[in-house]
Amino acid sequence: MTEKERKEATETSEAQIAVHWQEEGYVPPTPAFIAQANMTDPTIYDRFSLDNFPNCFKEYADLLDWYEYWTEILDTSDAPCFKWFKGGKINASYNCVDRHLAKHANKTAIHFVPELEEEKVDHVTYQELWVRVNEFAALLQDFCGLKAGDRVTLHMPMSTELPVTMLACARLGVIHSQVFGGFSGKAAADRIEDSGSNVLITMDAYYRGGKLLSHKEKADIAVEEAEKMGQKVDKVLIWQRYPGKYSSDVPMVDGRDYFVNDLLKDYYGKRVDPVPMPAEAPLFLMYTSGTTGKPKGCQHGTGGYLAYVAGTSKYVQDIHPEDVYWCMADIGWITGHSYIVYGPLALCASTVVYEGIPNYPDAGRCWRIAQDLGVNIFHTAPTAIRALRKIGPDEPAKYDYHFKHMTTVGEPIEPEVWRWYHEVVGKGEAAIVDTWWQTETGGFLCSTLPALKPMKPGSAGPGMPGIHCVIYDDEGKEVPPGQGIAGNICIQNPWPGMFQTIWGNRERFVNQYFERYCKDPNSKRWQDWPYMTGDAAVMAEDGYVRILGRIDDVINVSGHRLGTKEIESAALVVPEVAEAAVVPVKHDIKGREPDLYVALKPGIESSDELAKKISDTIVREIGPIAKPRKVWIVPDMPKTRSGKIMRRILAAISNGSDVGDTMTLANPEVVEEIKKMEAASK
Ligand code: WTA
Repeated sequence: MTEKERKEATETSEAQIAVHWQEEGYVPPTPAFIAQANMTDPTIYDRFSLDNFPNCFKEYADLLDWYEYWTEILDTSDAPCFKWFKGGKINASYNCVDRHLAKHANKTAIHFVPELEEEKVDHVTYQELWVRVNEFAALLQDFCGLKAGDRVTLHMPMSTELPVTMLACARLGVIHSQVFGGFSGKAAADRIEDSGSNVLITMDAYYRGGKLLSHKEKADIAVEEAEKMGQKVDKVLIWQRYPGKYSSDVPMVDGRDYFVNDLLKDYYGKRVDPVPMPAEAPLFLMYTSGTTGKPKGCQHGTGGYLAYVAGTSKYVQDIHPEDVYWCMADIGWITGHSYIVYGPLALCASTVVYEGIPNYPDAGRCWRIAQDLGVNIFHTAPTAIRALRKIGPDEPAKYDYHFKHMTTVGEPIEPEVWRWYHEVVGKGEAAIVDTWWQTETGGFLCSTLPALKPMKPGSAGPGMPGIHCVIYDDEGKEVPPGQGIAGNICIQNPWPGMFQTIWGNRERFVNQYFERYCKDPNSKRWQDWPYMTGDAAVMAEDGYVRILGRIDDVINVSGHRLGTKEIESAALVVPEVAEAAVVPVKHDIKGREPDLYVALKPGIESSDELAKKISDTIVREIGPIAKPRKVWIVPDMPKTRSGKIMRRILAAISNGSDVGDTMTLANPEVVEEIKKMEAASK
């Protein structure tokens, strides 16, 4: 077998099971939108052409305030670990808070919307944010002894305290690593260990679906598990959902656990000067799933990252200081870091932080929030749009809100769903941007600039200014636009928002993202290091890109990335399980779901209880988002003669498509048995 045949036989990916729609026609933005837009100058594409690279990105750097202006725009001497704005000194907290005080101290920075409608919305002004960030930074510095370069793990739900914590870390140059609140204590432990954090910051509880969920026990598990891996956590700081009251019944551990609100009393009125950080100092880590079981910490820098998210927030999100901007992602994901916290606050917008789920208590909730707060920019994912369309297709019309602009992010959006978003949610008035990007990329890669390019349903649009996309086939040959042929989409050049490395693992960074298409591994020229995104895409004649999905073993569930290997290794924690294979299955709302196939150790009987135990273990190890659609306990895995599990066949069965030729398998009869199980379950 050739390498290519071997891959096809054993692997399956989202891109392979993607069913794709055709190219759609253009939809223009309204004249009213164009009249007010931040970017209406078509020469931006020339200014950001490859000929003007990398100097074009000065435009983004100049949106920020620098203590010391940089001297070299792009240092490629350690390629592919590129350094942007070298020689510059900057602080992210200063740029997101302090610099707005002179003119906008009393403007709302954060509207925190609790999930319970009877609870009061918290409107935090920039002045108030500044006070809270200073006091908490003082606490981190004094009580925890944290300083620039230290890592801190955050495992916090959607709350005002989360951006306060991030900005307090940034003020000191402390590297924050926020773990999605819905992840398990074990998942937090893995990230604590990998980042070497000895402080964990969490919250006692939060609302979800109308219930106050206790969150503190996850901290206990996280600390215990991290310690087993050799990483001691000395202090656990616990914010309270209701300040002054403990909303969990899990005991506090003496000498380790502290209520932030108690400690803060000693820091009222304290101020901490922002630390001028080198532009290339790490700002945060964001762990994401990749091709091996272990999540990897994407390391984002300070100056480049902040410049890129400020620039894209201004020109793609069209944020003006007078806008009320609501991105309904979770801050625990990159979307929330870049486009709830850092980008909007750098531009002095009012950003909405909503605690709960979109359909609590009913299908009109989002539109009531939009109406009540005067939200005029709305940002969400196809999975939420599909769900809202299903449960309340006529709800938006009942509320008096007007979006000028809307975003979709995280997965491909079906043209039908896009049209509902445009006509019903956006009332035909809003410009839509379909933004394609990744945890690794810090900010948008492809999107239309909303006043300059028309929308095309189902297409993410062309490369952003300064992002030069290229589609390669498996042999590394460029697939020209307009051929209708899919390939691996890469970016020809680095950009300021790009991650700097994988925390503590440069080798993996190079192997996974650059090795395949690198022109010369010893080269110090950026031209030789195209960035491989891991997505399959088709580029139309006009340069608009349609993303088909991942080419590797990552599954995008409701816009959240999960590694199949991660789920498989969680299943293998169950002692009865001998082998596990995860494949993506299409789902109406979530886009994709993981389906889990397991084979048991000899002598062990299959049962519903065991299937449940395996599913529960995955939820415990990773979190509810990784819960398999179904656990199929099979007599054996379909395998090649060399013993490789044929995931492609399992994926075909799960998706009800043709399994193809199975005669080359070592055990073709197993395929028939699995098909029967699947038919019987319907
Ligand atoms: C997918 C989320 C189609 C893609 C920002 C990518 C998309 C992965 C889009 C990254 C989009 C993201 N259209 N697919 N507009 N945006 N993706 O790291 O497969 O959580 O590689 O970052 O989501 O997911 P991540």
